[in-house]
Amino acid sequence: RTVYLNGQWLPEDQAKVSIFDRGYVFADAIYEVTAVIGGKLLDYPGHTARLKRSLEAIGISMPVSEDELLDLHHTIVEKNGLDQGLVYLQISRGAEDRNFLFSDNLTPTLSMFTQVVPLLANPKAETGLAVISMPDGRWANRQIKTVQLLYSSLAKMEAKNRGADDVIFVEDGLITEASSANFHIITKSGVLVTRQLSNALLHGITRSSVLSLALTAQLKVEERAFSVEEAQDAAEAFITSAGAFVMPVVSIDGTSIGDGKPGKTTLRIREIYIEDQL
Ligand code: PDD
Repeated sequence: RTVYLNGQWLPEDQAKVSIFDRGYVFADAIYEVTAVIGGKLLDYPGHTARLKRSLEAIGISMPVSEDELLDLHHTIVEKNGLDQGLVYLQISRGAEDRNFLFSDNLTPTLSMFTQVVPLLANPKAETGLAVISMPDGRWANRQIKTVQLLYSSLAKMEAKNRGADDVIFVEDGLITEASSANFHIITKSGVLVTRQLSNALLHGITRSSVLSLALTAQLKVEERAFSVEEAQDAAEAFITSAGAFVMPVVSIDGTSIGDGKPGKTTLRIREIYIEDQL
């Protein structure tokens, strides 16, 4: 096949995208699939309109004009002699060093390829499909450390735009975790409270080590879910991750936690953690 990548027509095995591309690292990309029958594009205006809506929704600028886009579709069909099949188009935010926060000057990565598919003579149209039902878990399996990080990345950008450092996610009134770290509080009675493990959060390696160290240091630990209000009313709060170690959190939605300064116990746990690891 001849595929399209950033202004070039290439044999499919010569089209290369950076491993730092945010489509690859953060699933920070959108796509469209348009059917082709007899070389004709089906529902093309609808697909382009949705493409523009998707790009706008996540703040990626359209890398080509509408005329160029249509031209690219016609050309890829022609170059591949596609009679029946699909045109796949993907636009990612572009490549830069891995960071949940992205730069605004990135060059989007635009790629396209075709697939031959016998769309009309589909035998399933005669027999029909058997289906199963499943809970809609898109994406409710946060215990799996996938690269499906677009929402987390956009949330962290929102935090930055609102003058904050990070986000804590809330579900059914209870905190799950931070955008890329686990979240914990220390109550006024000195109990370290952290959400119990489930599909609602990533099972942090740092969290696990910190909990063991806290127990060794005679701290009381409770594993249960808690609300934003309870966290705002706590004595201390902190996050844990491989990148942040043990990092104090001093306010939530503008409300100070404790005296609004990093907590003493938090800082002690940070020291103990670093010392234990080195
Ligand atoms: N993030 N929760 C989420 C959603 C995370 O992405 C991470 C780690 C953690 C903490 O897990 P651990 O303690 O194993 O690092 C919790 C990494 C650091 C990142 O994406 O950069």
